[in-house]
Amino acid sequence: MTDSGLFLSSSPVVTVLGAGSIGFLYGIHLARHCRVTLIGHNPERIRSIRDHGILFRENETERRIYPVPITLSGMLSESPDLVLVTLKAHQIQQAVEENKSLFMAGAPIVCLLMNGGDNARFFKNLVPRERLVLATTTHNAMTLPGNCIQHTAGGITTLGPDGPAVHFTARLLADSGFTTEIDPDIHRIIWKKLFVNAVINPLTAIHGVRNGEIARNPQYMPQICGILEECLHAAHCEGFDFEENEILHHILHIAENTALGESSMLQDLHHGKTTEIDEINGFIAEICEKHSIPCPYNRELVKQVHSLEQKAL
Ligand code: PAF
Repeated sequence: MTDSGLFLSSSPVVTVLGAGSIGFLYGIHLARHCRVTLIGHNPERIRSIRDHGILFRENETERRIYPVPITLSGMLSESPDLVLVTLKAHQIQQAVEENKSLFMAGAPIVCLLMNGGDNARFFKNLVPRERLVLATTTHNAMTLPGNCIQHTAGGITTLGPDGPAVHFTARLLADSGFTTEIDPDIHRIIWKKLFVNAVINPLTAIHGVRNGEIARNPQYMPQICGILEECLHAAHCEGFDFEENEILHHILHIAENTALGESSMLQDLHHGKTTEIDEINGFIAEICEKHSIPCPYNRELVKQVHSLEQKAL
C-alpha cells in the first residue's frame, strides 16, 4: 500500500494513450519501472516504429529503444493501473470511443496531460471524479524524421486536485525522474498553461520560429500583450484572476526555457496535421463570445492558423 492509500503492484501497468512526442517522452521514462504500452492511431507509423524502434535523444545522449510496445488504437485489451492521456485535444472523442474498454476494466486512474481548456468534459461519464487526475507539463519534446524523439527542454509536471489518485500518479512520475508538484488548485494551473499555449503556439506556428524567438524578439511584444489581455479577460469572466505582469513573465520564461524547441503547433503544421488552435485560442474566443467581450487577437490567430493548416495538409 502506498502513502496515497492505493495499492502499487511491483510493476505497475501504464497505458499511454497518444503516441506523439510527449507520449513517448513520458512512456520511455515510465518504462524504467512500469510495464508501459503506447497506443497510437497511425498504422504506418506504428509498423515503422515496431520494425526500427525509436531513437531517443536526451541530454546530448542518444539511444535506440527496441522493441517498442506500441499498439493501434482500439486493439489493446489490458487492465492498466494508470492511463496517461497525451492526445491532441481534437483526438479525444474518437480515441475514447475506440478504447472504452481500457477505462472500464479494472477501474484505472486516468491522468489527462494535454493542452487545451476543458478536456475533463470528455471523461465525465466514464471515469469517476476521484480517479481523474488533471496535469500540465512544461517539458518540450520534438518528433524528428527517422522515428526520432528529442527531449528538447526539461520542466515540471503539475498534478491535481489533491487526493490519493494524484499522489499515486505523482509518485510514479517522480520515480521515473520527472520533477512533479501537486497543486490542489489545478484549474488555475490549467488556465496558466492555456495562456502559455495561447501565446507561444500560434505565434511560433504563424511565423515559423522556435520558442526562444517569442521571448527574444521585441517585434512580438504588442501581439503577445493583445492576446494575453483577452485571455485574462476570459479567465476573469470564468472566475479566475491573474496578475498580468506575472503571467507575461511566466510565458517569456517558458519560451526561453524551451528556446530551441518547436511548439507542438509548429510541429503539427510541419507534419501536415490538424493543430490544437480551436482548443486553445478558439476556446478563449468561445468564452469571450459567451460573455459578450471582444476578442479580435485570438480570433485572428484562429483564422490564420486554419489557413496555414489548409496549405500544409
Ligand atoms: O504545446 C507546446 O509546445 C508546449 O505546451 C509548450 C510549453 C508551449 C512548449 O513548447
